[in-house]
Amino acid sequence: MINSSSARRLRHVVNIHDLRRLARQRLPKAVFDYVDGGAEDERTLADNCQAFQELTFRPRTAVAVADCELATTVLGCRISFPAMLAPVGYSRLMHPGGEVAAARAAGEAGTGYILSTVSGHKLENVKSASSGPVWYQLYLVGGREAAEGALERARRAGFSALVITVDTPVAGMRERDWRNGVKELLGANPLAMLPYLPNLILHPRWLAAFLLDGGVPRLENVVVPGQGPMPMIGVGDALARSVVTWQDLRWIRNAWSGPMVVKGIMTGDDARRAIDYGAAGVVVSNHGGRQLDGVPASLRVLPEVATAVNGRAEVLMDGGIRRGSDIVKALCLGAHAVLVGRAYAYGLAAAGQAGVSRALQILRDDVERTMKLLGCSAVGELNPSYLNLPAGWPGQRTYASGASSPV
Ligand code: GLV
Repeated sequence: MINSSSARRLRHVVNIHDLRRLARQRLPKAVFDYVDGGAEDERTLADNCQAFQELTFRPRTAVAVADCELATTVLGCRISFPAMLAPVGYSRLMHPGGEVAAARAAGEAGTGYILSTVSGHKLENVKSASSGPVWYQLYLVGGREAAEGALERARRAGFSALVITVDTPVAGMRERDWRNGVKELLGANPLAMLPYLPNLILHPRWLAAFLLDGGVPRLENVVVPGQGPMPMIGVGDALARSVVTWQDLRWIRNAWSGPMVVKGIMTGDDARRAIDYGAAGVVVSNHGGRQLDGVPASLRVLPEVATAVNGRAEVLMDGGIRRGSDIVKALCLGAHAVLVGRAYAYGLAAAGQAGVSRALQILRDDVERTMKLLGCSAVGELNPSYLNLPAGWPGQRTYASGASSPV
């Protein structure tokens, strides 16, 4: 159900940038910058978007594509178009509906949702809100026993895959979060919070919703035995306790019998290693430019990983997707599907579930239009011959006009 104020807010939204603008208006600076920002100089954050712009299309003209097949399957789950919602921490601080609203919107759009460990709603409620596939993303923030408890709950609730994020040996230096006092605002010391409170008061719509929702939620899915759900902590502290090593993949493999996806892969070697440890899928990801600043855009690494994987696992990617044409480009370079993070988080922040639905509708319509303009009738038929790869681009090969494989 879209309430009238959400509908009013979304009336003039044409693209994801419009949703970002609305999110910026509604959210306090500390929350907006948490969503929007990246690590250090934000070079990787910028490159994630820039890389898409360097690729241009090679359309087949004078081709009528009446019906375009956008659906695909990811780890056996059917999705209506090749994009799923990435795990986004602290979603309940963006909007009280948080993870439940996002999962419901994903299900209604016929696609999947990945629930972050850093979530404020119980995983059972998130799963039951969605009619689509729901996966669980694991951080070890509460330690091994808390993780095992969450995996057992996720299994019972019907989560169909586990995503293990492997790029957080420490938290990236997110300078905006430091300046905005994210740690202090989520801490227990009111005096330390004080300098950061005025900006919250300047966003009364967000503040009223946050207070009515009970204030800072707990980490409902990180239940430390004998202690109950962990209190919400700043992202720096959460990720600092979240390192996952290859050795951890062994016990995680035993604790989770369903498909495992390793997220945060940036080299072909690590992709092969993830498969050796039992991954059925890998996500080419630099954590949205939020961890190691200075790594390349995910899109630039995608051809290397797709080549290394060579069909032995499914290759997903995230990072920088703001348009459906970006999704199409990622599929041309070997992604099976993509994960979108900020693109829907802006919608969630702007208007709750309705905002997420709008983001998904924009991306889906974009993909369909782009496919028709390219003269390609099914996402499964996309390949590098639909792109011009500039000299020096990874995966660059020469394609004859109309050929779907290199000459
Ligand atoms: C959480 O995973 C974050 O990157 O903020």
